[in-house]
Amino acid sequence: MVLLSSAEAVDYQEEIRPILNKKCFKCHTGPKAKGGLRMDSLDDFAKRIGGDDPLIIPGDPGKSILSIKAGLPASDGEAMPPPPARERGAEPMTAAELTLVRQWITEGAKLEPGDASATPTAAPTTPAPGAAPMVAELHDWSNTGGGSLKASFVAMNGANVTLRREDGTQFDYPLANLSAGSQALAKKLAGQ
Ligand code: HEC
Repeated sequence: MVLLSSAEAVDYQEEIRPILNKKCFKCHTGPKAKGGLRMDSLDDFAKRIGGDDPLIIPGDPGKSILSIKAGLPASDGEAMPPPPARERGAEPMTAAELTLVRQWITEGAKLEPGDASATPTAAPTTPAPGAAPMVAELHDWSNTGGGSLKASFVAMNGANVTLRREDGTQFDYPLANLSAGSQALAKKLAGQ
């Protein structure tokens, strides 16, 4: 099934994790991970996205130390992988890999496709933990690429529409990428 949310966003599992695996996991996995930074544990990694001691600031690759360090030249002692390791063959990210990582951060550094919890803009519409699940009518949505999905309408969010799948996960989708019929439906449901 073609899911609407997979249309454009960079996917962590499919695109980012393989890059980190190839270029960073050697030193950043397991209990002895360098600098205490474990990238293989999704939980540990998730704690460093936003929060008190962030490696990644969702939406801002220019301020995220992970993308900053990965982009530094070998002449800089703060670069990752560290320059001495590069001399022993540890390869830095290629420009294309770094661009993808930066784009993923710009898009909110989500670890799962359509994971609304990591998206600051979606926070106001995310139900509080333990809140009774909202009973909402499911609608059929389609996009300009011919994909379709059953989801309930949550809110209009600027140029995006926030939808919720049957399993309760929420995601934002650009209104402009919906079919004309689905755009009209979103506007009607938003009372516009
Ligand atoms: C050859 C081993 C090695 C490789 C490969 C490596 N690192 Fe590191 N990394 C280290 C060491 C050692 C430290 C701790 C010392 C430091 O911060 O300079 C560290 C620390 C870091 C930190 C700081 C952690 C913190 O909590 O402040 C970040 C961010 C980081 N690495 C990112 C990366 C990224 C991204 C890659 C892949 C492109 C990578 N590293 C690959 C050895 C490595």
